[in-house]
Amino acid sequence: MESPYDVLGIDADADEDAVVRAYRHRVKDAHPDHDGSLEEFERVRRAYEHITSGRDPSTFEASERRRSRRSPTRGGSDSSRSARSARESRARNGQSEGTEGTENRGSLGPTVQYLDYEVLETHGWQLTDEDLFEKAEAADLDVDSYGLLVVEERESLLEAAERYGFSWPYACRGGACANCAVAVVDGEVEMPVSTILTDEMKEQGVRLSCIGTPVTDDLKVVFNIEKLPGLAELRLPAEQFERARADD
Ligand code: FES
Repeated sequence: MESPYDVLGIDADADEDAVVRAYRHRVKDAHPDHDGSLEEFERVRRAYEHITSGRDPSTFEASERRRSRRSPTRGGSDSSRSARSARESRARNGQSEGTEGTENRGSLGPTVQYLDYEVLETHGWQLTDEDLFEKAEAADLDVDSYGLLVVEERESLLEAAERYGFSWPYACRGGACANCAVAVVDGEVEMPVSTILTDEMKEQGVRLSCIGTPVTDDLKVVFNIEKLPGLAELRLPAEQFERARADD
């Protein structure tokens, strides 16, 4: 019986830092772009969530079995097989390694590297630093601050972050404030409706995560930027929206 610690490849008495380090390492290996598979990627993520939410490790396999019964089409062996056969098919067709990421994604949605703006403030980094995400990767940051997530179909960036259990800032959830703003450092995010953002902000890569969806396979975003000049004035008190939602 595999425990979530086994999935991350660490001992059951590993401390919090070791868990985070192992997760970062495993989630990259398991990614479909790195010879992993969607199923493996998601299993690693669930193992990490199981540990960090304090659930009994001995219940992990049972919850995996229940999940597998609910989603039979996402069985591990099928997923691994399809990733393998995609690679074999590419090899047969003479496609380069460079095309692997796009094709091997299968049902995997856009992959987002995220970074908390507070980290930039702490380290004195700038949004314009070309090696910003390389520095973040080397900095041994907490997964709340830096990591990787996958956006599913019809999901906004904010919804994806919340599905992973993160608490990114927001208020209106409808494009009327700047509380949920992110800076897109690489890739592109589309917003379906007109927003409160100025053209200049949009040109600088600012997007609203509550209504923004990735239109590129890979994305790098800095979240929690709502305190930046220009955006601070567009912020709204989150409480008024929470009250309105509670009254609905
Ligand atoms: S939460 Fe107000 S625009 Fe996104």
